[in-house]
Amino acid sequence: MKEFKPKIKLPAVIFSGRISYIINSFEGEFHTHKGVIDLSQLKNLEYGDEIKTHLGYPFKIRPFSTSDFFKHFRKGPTPIMPKDIGAIIAYTGLRPGSSILDSGTGSGVLAAYLAYFNRDGIVVTVEKRPEFAKIAKKNFELAGLDNILPVIGDIFDLADAFRIKFDLITLDMKNDVEFIPLAKNLLKQTGYLVVYNPYMDATREVYFEMQRHGFEELQSFQLARIDLEHKRVGTRPFVRIWHTGFLVIGRKIS
Ligand SMILES: C[S@@+](CC[C@H](N)C(=O)[O-])C[C@H]1O[C@@H](n2cnc3c(N)ncnc32)[C@H](O)[C@@H]1O
Repeated sequence: MKEFKPKIKLPAVIFSGRISYIINSFEGEFHTHKGVIDLSQLKNLEYGDEIKTHLGYPFKIRPFSTSDFFKHFRKGPTPIMPKDIGAIIAYTGLRPGSSILDSGTGSGVLAAYLAYFNRDGIVVTVEKRPEFAKIAKKNFELAGLDNILPVIGDIFDLADAFRIKFDLITLDMKNDVEFIPLAKNLLKQTGYLVVYNPYMDATREVYFEMQRHGFEELQSFQLARIDLEHKRVGTRPFVRIWHTGFLVIGRKIS
């Protein structure tokens, strides 16, 4: 008998306009806002093809990719937005083969992006609340990432236990200021510390504490994404600014 070789890999994404769903099976029924899909149809389809609901509503099929992490991961605690993740990757010069420490894991969005761009390296991500660690673990499985080591515990209790030094440490958690001296000890020389905080006054404290502990090349900023609205008469910014958080990035040189 001929072996069944699907042209589509799981997970896959079905979408219609801005609405999209993750598909993780070639069997069973999948409920959308426009009716039910018989997933067995997928076996005979390819990316770019349409799959229809029982009401005849079409969805297109495309591969699941890194750009889906933020949108499609299960959310527990508020994750870092892609715009800020992009800045973290670019400004710390992240390269494959790095050792990274991330705390707290939360929904695992930042950890997943860091792991994806750190092939041949490792991301140790620490979360003190088991229920959030469970959500993040499911997200890492969905993304097929095997270079993440999720740890359940309080980063303050674990700081002495690490036997390696890190190229990059990212903090998105309470009491970030108190962890700065411990982070400095855990960094390799020339390693980066990134602190993400939703409050400006807390960010100011982080900045001065990093300066006091000798971090160099310090930068502190907020990124705003302003969407554009394209109309027949012209294009203008959408009047909607979402506040996300503030970043402080510094480097251990000595
Ligand atoms: C805002 S969330 C992090 C979101 C994450 N960066 C993401 O992109 O999905 C903050 C997380 O830090 C965790 N946390 C707070 N203090 C911690 C600590 N001392 N050790 C480990 N995790 C901690 C919280 O439980 C929470 O899940």
